[in-house]
Amino acid sequence: MTAIFSVVGIVGTGAMGRGIAQMAAQAGSQIVLFDLQSGAAQAARDALAETWQKLVAKGKLDAAKQQSYLERIRLAETLSDLGQCDLVIEAIVEKLEVKQRLFSELEGIVPATTVLATNTSSLSVTAIGAALQHPQRLAGYHFFNPVPLMRVVEVIAGIKTDPAVCQRLVGYTRQYGHTPVVAQDTPGFIVNHAGRGYGTEALRVAGERVADFATIDRILRDQIGFKLGPFELMDLTALDVSHPVMESIYRQYYDEPRYRPSVITAQRLAGGVVGRKVGEGFYTYEQGQAQVPA
Ligand code: NAI
Repeated sequence: MTAIFSVVGIVGTGAMGRGIAQMAAQAGSQIVLFDLQSGAAQAARDALAETWQKLVAKGKLDAAKQQSYLERIRLAETLSDLGQCDLVIEAIVEKLEVKQRLFSELEGIVPATTVLATNTSSLSVTAIGAALQHPQRLAGYHFFNPVPLMRVVEVIAGIKTDPAVCQRLVGYTRQYGHTPVVAQDTPGFIVNHAGRGYGTEALRVAGERVADFATIDRILRDQIGFKLGPFELMDLTALDVSHPVMESIYRQYYDEPRYRPSVITAQRLAGGVVGRKVGEGFYTYEQGQAQVPA
């Protein structure tokens, strides 16, 4: 199978960037990793090597494939090293001006045919594209964490996005076995819009002291059938990621009360009690296991 994009640049090699790089390498693309922070791209490559090694140890990947995936990953010293890419995906900080600056810099580096994609979860793809000379080449390409396990990927068309760009991303997504869903550019797209009420309503129930976090989680998980309760989910995503998304969607819908963020998450974020990754959120964690409601 020939990959729809032969050389894929990943800018920002944190949690999301490295997961996206894994998928792109598995689709058969050559990968170029770039991160502003020194050593971050190398750390991402090491983490990918470890991931593939674990899959080999579990018998889920053969050693020859593991080697070929690893050989596809190159590290970029500067952004200019992305000049050969026919797709560049950014997974950097969630700030409009920073993303706009990156893409307009990239336009001076890559050919006019290169597709540009943003993994933003809450910003307007149209607004990011407004800084570009050729906004038709930019689409939203929204993955979920952890990328290899979360099989849905939203492909988002901004007002000026060329539909052919979305179609190429849809086909590419299928090449690594994920499920593409095309969404129009609206705040939260599909998943973070339709799923918003799950967290905000649970926070209201807790805020009104109808039940505690653990009870709400248990009922929604065991009785209604969700995989994770809303507080377990917020702990997994982490409030430093999800609370700003809540704020952004609320603002973009002109303060629509249904999307109002909660003071509960605002306070917890201010106190650094953000979730599983710091060992403490709505629950406390030891070695990745939930212990007691905090
Ligand atoms: P992260 O903090 O783990 O990684 C971000 C990386 O980008 C860091 O290594 C940082 O050094 C690098 N970076 C920052 N500014 C840069 C720049 N101007 N040029 C090059 N590299 C730069 O963040 P994470 O979780 O990987 O998220 C990245 C993006 O993906 C954000 O826009 C976020 O909204 C979006 N996203 C995150 C999800 C999540 O659950 N973490 C889910 C879906 C989207």
